[in-house]
Amino acid sequence: MSDRIHTLSGYFHEYQKSVTEPEQFWARVADSFHWKKRWDKVLEWDFEGPDVKWFVNGKLNITENILERHLFIMGDRPAIIWEPNDPEEEGRTLTYKQLYHAVCQFSNALKSKGIGKGDKVIIYMPMVPEAAVAMLACARIGAVHSVVFAGFSSNALSDRINDCEAKAVLTSDGNFRGSKKIAVKAVVDEALEKTSTVESVIVYQRTKQEVTMKEGRDYWWHDVIDGQPDTNEAEVMDSEDMLFILYTSGSTGKPKGVVHTTGGYMVYTKYSFENVFQYSPGDVYWCTADIGWITGHSYIVYGPLLAGATSIMFEGVPTYPDAGRFWAVVDKYQVNQFYTAPTAIRALEAHGTGPIEPYKLDSLKVLGSVGEPINEEAWHWYHTHIGKNRCPIVDTWWQTETGGIMVSPLAGVTPTKPAYATLPLPGVQLAIVDPEGKVLKGNSVEGNLCIKFPWPGMIRTTYGDHERCKQTYFSTYKGMYFTGDGVKRDHDGYYRILGRVDDVINVSGHRMGTAEVENAINEHPKVIESAVVGYPHEVKGQGIYAYVICDMKNRTEENLKGEIKDTISKIIGPIAKPDKIQIVPGLPKTRSGKIMRRILRKVAEGSMDNMGDTSTLLDPGVVEEIIKGRVE
Ligand code: PRX
Repeated sequence: MSDRIHTLSGYFHEYQKSVTEPEQFWARVADSFHWKKRWDKVLEWDFEGPDVKWFVNGKLNITENILERHLFIMGDRPAIIWEPNDPEEEGRTLTYKQLYHAVCQFSNALKSKGIGKGDKVIIYMPMVPEAAVAMLACARIGAVHSVVFAGFSSNALSDRINDCEAKAVLTSDGNFRGSKKIAVKAVVDEALEKTSTVESVIVYQRTKQEVTMKEGRDYWWHDVIDGQPDTNEAEVMDSEDMLFILYTSGSTGKPKGVVHTTGGYMVYTKYSFENVFQYSPGDVYWCTADIGWITGHSYIVYGPLLAGATSIMFEGVPTYPDAGRFWAVVDKYQVNQFYTAPTAIRALEAHGTGPIEPYKLDSLKVLGSVGEPINEEAWHWYHTHIGKNRCPIVDTWWQTETGGIMVSPLAGVTPTKPAYATLPLPGVQLAIVDPEGKVLKGNSVEGNLCIKFPWPGMIRTTYGDHERCKQTYFSTYKGMYFTGDGVKRDHDGYYRILGRVDDVINVSGHRMGTAEVENAINEHPKVIESAVVGYPHEVKGQGIYAYVICDMKNRTEENLKGEIKDTISKIIGPIAKPDKIQIVPGLPKTRSGKIMRRILRKVAEGSMDNMGDTSTLLDPGVVEEIIKGRVE
């Protein structure tokens, strides 16, 4: 039975059912999957704990629902189409049958290295099909994967390895990105100097660059699969067994490991994929994200493959060899659904329409947007020049913690409105609250976005620190999950996401904690104190503006700024480098020592006309100094 919604009245009907009878609703959706043992109870929950269980005591393996399920009727259909960085290099296609064998073989290889149920495995790999094979092989044997974006530094990698006490790392020799060849294994080697739990490293050969292989620890991918059988008995997993950990930034401290479990995540990613994108069998779907982020997990790998879709995996960047690359790929594979981030749209928009002209783009049916608010101008450009005024845009709001899309039009079903994520998916019960926690009813209201009822794809805990999960998401507003986003519900009842209301910034769709960037800056020996804020950036959505107090002895400003950027690259990765650094004599602090970020944000934005009340500042004079030295 299909759970595809086809009409707007159908959507309202389903939504209503999902609210009045959530257990029956999700049981019906879940019944279309293969369970080794059906669940005893659909849902047990308590947001105080928080303690949420979906499909209680159900037994399954998610990879059987991807592989065995599609093997016999459509084993020859492409599961993954891989487009390499260099358009001259030949791509690869893995059919469902080939994917099945590749996953089974690699599962056996992992087992031969002593990796089994419950073990944590870090995946630090470029966008090659083997990265998806690696994720699925972990899921097949019950190991918990934690994918780390291959642009993160060795420090960021070792922090994550240590936090989850990973037993193995799956990686590659190097990575092709645009015109660059980037070392990957060397970063792993450096990270492993600061960790003690990793017993084996498996290295996929991609760039054929020189690497050092440590005897007894490091193995080539092609060697470990050699001779392994290409079938494998899938491990029996409980619905609530951990499927993966994915680290993400918050407003305080180090990135936290968001934990997703097996049954609910499976049900939610497939259901949301099919409905939002209105995927029909035979369509070719392309999400341009990296598997290092949740979008890659849920909508390159799990959602599409659970639905038996053909999912494109792209190794390169949108501007290599030129700014028409996305459109060349769309025409080459006749892509039907295309899903990308506003920052990519704005970056391509800056190149004008010239790079689009050689391409037809007539296969496109649906366009998607994710990761940050899409401004109206970018929305219209996308709609007109890429969608040729014919393709609905699904502006999908969700988070690493939600596992899947929460607020979005269903393509061709929900009437769209530029910059609006529109309406919640069935099963998603939103609440807008004011700062005091009062729920704002009715339309034309604005406040903080909360979710008041569990959904199957939701976060279960933050790895190794349940209290942090409770504090971060379930304590601000009693009995509700707090998203950290501001939102408006307009006169039609449509939702528009306004951006983060906490100290998280969103740079080119990458989520970063200001505290995390400050901690990295403070590692520089000449830095005394720093404060980081976001400011509106034409292409990136938000840029990073850093105010730094430094000991200037033996340094020029320029030297110091360069060194600070290098420090951040080393500690987090190049994506966290500030766009602007201002060396300041002091920071605007209250008498109790709290930095008044509001003032710093105003200066960074360039709106200095009304600085508001500065009378509580210890030294109001510092504000003038900061305004004087503002970086344009
Ligand atoms: O602020 C929201 C923004 O991205 C945050 C979640 O980031 P992350 O966990 O990295 O996941 C990104 C991909 C799902 C949210 O709290 N965000 C995501 N999608 C949208 C968005 N803001 C506005 N509109 C969106 N469509």
